[in-house]
Amino acid sequence: MMNLIKPPVKNITCGYDTVDILSECTVGVKRGEIASIVGPNGAGKSTAMKSIFGLLKIRLGKIFLDNEDITNLLPQERVLKGMGYVPQTNNIFPTLSVQENLEMGAFIQHEDFSDILDYVYDLFPVLKEKRNQQAGELSGGQRQQVAVGRALMTKPKVLMLDEPSAGVSPIVMENLFQKIIEIAKQGTAVLMVEQNAKQALEISDIGFVLNQGKNLYTDTGKALLSNKEVRQAFLGG
Ligand SMILES: Nc1ncnc2c1ncn2[C@@H]1O[C@H](COP(=O)(O)OP(=O)(O)O)[C@@H](O)[C@H]1O
Ligand SMILES: [Mg+2]
Repeated sequence: MMNLIKPPVKNITCGYDTVDILSECTVGVKRGEIASIVGPNGAGKSTAMKSIFGLLKIRLGKIFLDNEDITNLLPQERVLKGMGYVPQTNNIFPTLSVQENLEMGAFIQHEDFSDILDYVYDLFPVLKEKRNQQAGELSGGQRQQVAVGRALMTKPKVLMLDEPSAGVSPIVMENLFQKIIEIAKQGTAVLMVEQNAKQALEISDIGFVLNQGKNLYTDTGKALLSNKEVRQAFLGG
């Protein structure tokens, strides 16, 4: 059905200590597209993101970026290859200013980053306004913008967002999703995990419904939204 030309993950099995959380889970996203991983709490969505980014050792399977096998690379090596990752929690430095947070995002890059800083400020104008303010003083939605902006500072090929809309109002979520659409339109692949599954699938080219560490459904966002079983079991009817 879907030709995943940039599959970050193929059949990964991984977990914590000796317990496997994911079993043969496959997700992926193409350049310029948005993919969402949805599913109940504890399904293994964050575990999948962590394993794609190299924070967890996977026991089986492979991770590819642009057809290159990156399964054995360290997280910082994956960043250099073009991965950006925004974790679900603790994704900003609260005592640093907005601008310092963004600059920290670029630390791994040795080149001049003023262009990309301008791009982030164009995308999130409020961050430019508040660039000298402590990031921890910002609203929840603005802090998420800092986190996303920080990940963009390395010009990732694939941007991974774990629950970008967590704890923000519907209006702020809508605004953030519009920004995510813009990021994808610029050519970045966006792979996100979302609790707000309906809204996420509405803007997704492809969706992965995970349950108990397994792929339950994989289809276009549209098809998943109109699938009765998916709606009843995972989207609140
Ligand atoms: N650091 C950890 N150590 C052990 N088990 C964990 C850890 N983090 C998550 N888990 C377990 O892994 C499973 C999947 O968690 P998670 O990936 O966070 O789910 P989701 O993001 O879909 O809500 C859950 O059963 C959770 O209890
Ligand atoms: Mg999670």
